[in-house]
Amino acid sequence: MSGTAMLSARQDPATAPQRAGQGNAAPRVIEVTAKRFEFDPSTIEVAEGERVRLQVKSADGVHGLQIKKFNVNKLVPRGGNAVTIDFTASAPGTFEILCSEECGEGHETMKGSLVVKAKAKGQ
Ligand code: CUA
Repeated sequence: MSGTAMLSARQDPATAPQRAGQGNAAPRVIEVTAKRFEFDPSTIEVAEGERVRLQVKSADGVHGLQIKKFNVNKLVPRGGNAVTIDFTASAPGTFEILCSEECGEGHETMKGSLVVKAKAKGQ
C-alpha cells in the first residue's frame, strides 16, 4: 500500500503580525533545521508571552512549518536559506509543529513540539 494521500496544500496567507505587549523586549531567536523527516530541534521550549523568532532552513528539499495555534504556516525552501517566522507565544501548553508541505513518504510523520511554559504567578 503506497500511502500517497496528498494533503491539499492550503495557502493560509500567514496572518497579521501579532503585537506583543512589551515592544522593547527582543524576541527569542531559535534556529530550526527542517529535513526529511524531522525538525531539529524537535522540541522547542519558550515562555508564555514571549516573542519568538524562528529561523528555519531546510537541509534538503522543500518543507513547511506550521503551528496552528499561533497561525504560523510558512514555506521552507530548498537551498538552505533561512526563513524568519515571528510570533508571540500567547498561550501556555504543548502544540504540534507540523510540516505543511508535501515532502515525501515521511511527510505525515514530520512533526515537532512547541512547549510554552506558563508564566509563574506573581511576576
Ligand atoms: Cu517535510 Cu512535509
